[in-house]
Amino acid sequence: MPTLFDPLKIKDVTLRNRIGVPPMCQYSATDGLANDWHLSHYAGLARGGAGLVVVEATAVAPEGRITPACTGLWNDAQTQAFVPIVRAIKAAGAVPGIQIAHAGRKASANRPWEGDDHIAEGDPRGWDTIAPSAIAFGGNLPKVPRAMTLDDIARIRADFVATAKRALDAGFEWLELHFAHGYLAQSFFNRDANQRTDQYGGSAGNRGRFLVETLAAVREVWPAHLPLTARFGVIEYDGRDEETLAESIDLVRRFRQEGLDLLSVSVGFSTPKGNVPWGPAFLAPVAARVRKEAGIPVSSAWGFANPEVADRVVRDEQLDQVLVGRNHLANPHWPYAAALKLGVERPSWVLPAPYAHWLQRYSSDV
Ligand SMILES: Cc1cc2nc3c(=O)[nH]c(=O)nc-3n(C[C@H](O)[C@H](O)[C@H](O)COP(=O)(O)O)c2cc1C
Repeated sequence: MPTLFDPLKIKDVTLRNRIGVPPMCQYSATDGLANDWHLSHYAGLARGGAGLVVVEATAVAPEGRITPACTGLWNDAQTQAFVPIVRAIKAAGAVPGIQIAHAGRKASANRPWEGDDHIAEGDPRGWDTIAPSAIAFGGNLPKVPRAMTLDDIARIRADFVATAKRALDAGFEWLELHFAHGYLAQSFFNRDANQRTDQYGGSAGNRGRFLVETLAAVREVWPAHLPLTARFGVIEYDGRDEETLAESIDLVRRFRQEGLDLLSVSVGFSTPKGNVPWGPAFLAPVAARVRKEAGIPVSSAWGFANPEVADRVVRDEQLDQVLVGRNHLANPHWPYAAALKLGVERPSWVLPAPYAHWLQRYSSDV
């Protein structure tokens, strides 16, 4: 029976434990360039003991950023800016991952703490957005995107491939395709957002085509010995959950056939009207079903910050890896605190030596 603190091997990469830091946008870049904030942030997370640190949603093209302050990976300067960050994550014993993304109709937004809404029309900081169909997300994101042509689709697929190559050049060892959260790929799969009448719309197979083709194209350039993963919203909580889940699981089987190594199971967030049943580990049964029916290792986030819960879902083989997001912002040493709480023998081993040596026998509350 695996535990939270057992290693996890995916392809040739061995994670020191089953704890991952999921991608979390910092909205702190200029021109898509990672900077000192990102370096200290990601180095600190890696020092805390997680097996995997996934760098935030990083855009494959300028118009694919959520906000003007999102990171990007479409040019050489951006590639170089990630090199010291990758090095720092590895030096602390974690595996460096990155999520590559296109925000689609949710792009051109203000930072969460500056409104979290679309940048106003006419404001020079904003840009035109693209999506499968000219349908706005709604709510605080009312901007109507331009429906993508077949050339646009081919171009964005090529952008994902080019960005994957850059991620490899920067030294990342774990790649995550952002197919979730109502961004471009998720909106291709969502039957309300995608009203296309060509081969990219209509049936579930057609709505999944952009995702499958992008994955297959990236797999060709991402080395076979390194994990290729995706984050995908398998459920919307919009009243059609059984149907969506069945279609999603079929699609995940296709992903597996195309060489996907692990799925980060998430919510679609394709509509502002979803009725998400927030609560501790609410996605665990959904993730477990995907794991079983699609036959692929899974991770998941949202509500796993209680160490006992995190450990239990791994022991029950519902999840292969647990993602802890906001609690890592509160305490980058969450894995050490979790190890203490779970009574893991020698919890210090989750930390790098310069910390571990001093904390060997130290077990007060952290
Ligand atoms: C500040 C912040 C930024 C986020 N950015 C991303 C992102 O770039 N990509 C993504 O897939 N999810 C993103 N998320 C969602 C997290 O990865 C995670 O799923 C979420 O925080 C739930 O996990 P938690 O309950 O442990 O915090 C973000 C969440 C936060 C709080």
